[in-house]
Amino acid sequence: MPATENTEGNQQQLKQSLPESNSQRVVHRGEILHLLADPVDNPEAIEFLPDGALVVADGHIEALGQAQDVIQGLPDNTPIIHHHNALITPGFIDCHVHYPQYQVIASYGTQLLEWLNTHTFPEEMKFSDQTYARQVASSFLDELLSNGTTTALVFGTVHPESVDAFFDEARRRNLRMICGKVMMDRNAPTELLDTAEQSAIESEALIKRWHGCERLGYAVTPRFAPTSTPEQLTVAAHLLDKHPGVMLHTHLAENTDECAWVKELFPEQRSYLDVYDHYGLLSNRSLFAHSIELDNKDWQRIKETGSSIAHCPLSNLFIGSGLFNMQQAFAHDIKLGFGTDVGGGDSFSILRTINEAYKIQQLQGMSLDPLKSFYLSTLGGAIALSLDKYVGNFTKNKEADFNIIDYNATPLIRSRLQTCTTLQEKLFVLQMLGDDRAIRQTWVAGNAVN
Ligand code: GUN
Ligand code: ZN
Repeated sequence: MPATENTEGNQQQLKQSLPESNSQRVVHRGEILHLLADPVDNPEAIEFLPDGALVVADGHIEALGQAQDVIQGLPDNTPIIHHHNALITPGFIDCHVHYPQYQVIASYGTQLLEWLNTHTFPEEMKFSDQTYARQVASSFLDELLSNGTTTALVFGTVHPESVDAFFDEARRRNLRMICGKVMMDRNAPTELLDTAEQSAIESEALIKRWHGCERLGYAVTPRFAPTSTPEQLTVAAHLLDKHPGVMLHTHLAENTDECAWVKELFPEQRSYLDVYDHYGLLSNRSLFAHSIELDNKDWQRIKETGSSIAHCPLSNLFIGSGLFNMQQAFAHDIKLGFGTDVGGGDSFSILRTINEAYKIQQLQGMSLDPLKSFYLSTLGGAIALSLDKYVGNFTKNKEADFNIIDYNATPLIRSRLQTCTTLQEKLFVLQMLGDDRAIRQTWVAGNAVN
């Protein structure tokens, strides 16, 4: 048995005794859950270890198994961190969020188009100031981490400085993050407009500077069809063709007034999705946030092109946009993840996101399986962002981003969990009652970050 057994009480001491480089191997022992694939109709994909050992070395997963077996095979003195009364899970993935809207969260009384004009655009104007952008990026990332979110697909503002500030802060924390500069050349305040040509030059420079730098990736980010001219949408498609690794990140069919506006602006196109399709923006590197108002042809095109959707239940309820049809997404086998869409969403918590997703489907006659929600928050999200090579579960050699979810987070959670007899039940209680208080600790590339 390795000599260096540690309990939570002296975990701090252990962290300090580890070498800076974290090249030393560390074992995390406790209840562990991760998924090898979509768990629905595939129970072998569920790996649940009531007494498991997750071995981390050099910021990556080295092994996972029953604690007894794994620990026996390790050299003496391998440090072991015990996580009692907790569940160890992969870090959560937020597939759609706006960092510049950190201060827009919980803004009263408007729906999408008015909300943008009243609350969002005035705040986004402040991001021409890189000092301000950096402060907000720092607070935003800390908030993500305290909610257990270790990877996100993030909107910047139209200012390239906003993206530099975000990536600087993400790199400082060694996070796996994707971000992009907003492209917006019409129908917004002048201070927030670029031009098609300027957006091409600025996006290209950001791609060169940041895409593939450590754990960072770039997303070409036209805000949504109403704020880009056909010329700018064409530029976005050129950028994607030229840089095959980068993503396309935009909004789609979120609100009925927005959809009517798109119809007026692009009368030739069959549907909102068809606008993006027409300009060559559908591919297996494209992610569309919301996607509430879709018809059958749209669902088929999303499937055919391998595009992904971010479902954003908190935002869809908070700004009153509508009810996403998850049954259609499942029926068409669409790559799907969850987004908080802060500041449209009123929480950074993926647990709270799952809570609202459950209710939205209840209203449409489907009870979302807690294991499916867990999948969408981890491996499913990673697949939607084409990052499943790196994160999403505890497969050997993936990056060691994980959460310690606290069974004693609140008196109610502790008490309610005692009545649970199955994993599904326990997971559901955590999802319905949990929020940032349930995230005891978040680990990024093998290091505790809070
Ligand atoms: N559509 C265009 N811009 C936005 C935005 O900032 N938030 C949301 N929720 N929808 C949008
Ligand atoms: Zn959004």
